[in-house]
Amino acid sequence: MGGLVYYSSASGNTARFTARLGLPASRIPISPQGDMPEPALPYVLICPTYADGQGRGAVPKQVIRFLNDPDRRALLRGVIAAGNRNFGATFALAGRVIAEKCNVPVLYRFELSGSDLDISRVLAGLEKFWGTECLTMA
Ligand SMILES: Cc1cc2nc3c(=O)[nH]c(=O)nc-3n(C[C@H](O)[C@H](O)[C@H](O)COP(=O)(O)O)c2cc1C
Repeated sequence: MGGLVYYSSASGNTARFTARLGLPASRIPISPQGDMPEPALPYVLICPTYADGQGRGAVPKQVIRFLNDPDRRALLRGVIAAGNRNFGATFALAGRVIAEKCNVPVLYRFELSGSDLDISRVLAGLEKFWGTECLTMA
């Protein structure tokens, strides 16, 4: 099974979601001074959305910094995006932006810290996803 990397701001919704998955996960620090995770294995990124009214800035700056490194980007296999449906058209937009830029699939979208159903779907989905991924791993 591959790894998980996530970002979560001070409101902590994505951190709570990720903790409930019960899988090892590395956190992208909120502070620009914090140490970035340096994944050694393929991983899925879990990322909340922070867009303005025009849909700009959907991907948090620290996540952009993390993905700007080619070695880290090369191991990204998919993205799980978080958001709030109150934002309408930009719901979980960070997932679509990352998917397009990095050419990986959006595996799932959830609201806030997710529901029990979200957790079980993501756990089942990740197991299936990494089961196919191992065929293509170096
Ligand atoms: C300033 C601001 C802008 C946001 N913009 C969006 C948005 O465009 N689309 C969306 O789906 N959610 C948006 N959200 C909701 C967050 O993605 C959501 O609250 C998420 O759970 C935050 O995760 P975190 O607590 O782990 O940082 C926004 C939240 C804030 C505070």
